[in-house]
Amino acid sequence: MATSLLDKLDLNRIPEHVGIILDGNGRWAKKRFMPRVAGHREGMKRVVDIVESSSNLGIKYLSLYAFSTENWKRPTEEVSALMDLLIIYVDSQLKRLSDNNVIVKTIGDISKLPNKSRQAIEKACETTKENTGMVLNLGLNYGSRSEIIRAVENIVNNSYDVNELTEESFKDFLYTKSQPDLDLLIRPGGEKRLSNFMLYQVAYAELYFCDTLWPDFHEEELYKAIYDFQSRNRRFGGI
Ligand code: FPP
Repeated sequence: MATSLLDKLDLNRIPEHVGIILDGNGRWAKKRFMPRVAGHREGMKRVVDIVESSSNLGIKYLSLYAFSTENWKRPTEEVSALMDLLIIYVDSQLKRLSDNNVIVKTIGDISKLPNKSRQAIEKACETTKENTGMVLNLGLNYGSRSEIIRAVENIVNNSYDVNELTEESFKDFLYTKSQPDLDLLIRPGGEKRLSNFMLYQVAYAELYFCDTLWPDFHEEELYKAIYDFQSRNRRFGGI
């Protein structure tokens, strides 16, 4: 029988907040002489699998970077295919997400999404808001720098006393308000950069990069990342 790294994980030291930069869908499709959209479709299946595995492992917050503020620059057909996939995701998964007690949230400015996609995702958030399990943050039209600027605008516009501002209280103005910082950031797809993802929340996260393309990122890859995380010595600036 094939062994799984799951058996080697310390279930008492599962990272509380895991972020994943979804990358490699296009290359996965290209390698198979398929259109890029086929890669995104397969990528959506991995989102389904990894959300379930994360929730089963006891991860409390899972943040997925699905569509960045820069992704609008892609060809129109690709952007609309991604927006349609969002609707397909909600239609096909909302029941399962609810059964798994997942709370769906968004990070990013979803007001710019096409109406049907926005409505689908809002429905998912509304339907799952009373759940008590894992929080799934979907990064949609998300960019960390604009999140930080938005935070500053909110501070100024709400006449918040700037003298009261601390590194901790600033977090209340981010999309991830009331959530812990990232413990582990995973980037599949071979690139080693943050691409404007959760720059404030990533401050003390362990970074894990791997060459596996996102559509090939099955649950064993997640276990590998967490196993690696558990081997790190997190000092948070101490000794
Ligand atoms: C990056 O791969 C991936 C994206 C920009 C989109 C991610 C979307 C999904 C996984 C599917 C839909 C998700 C949800 C939540 C329904 P890339 O296209 O940049 O890959 P490449 O670097 O190989 O070109």
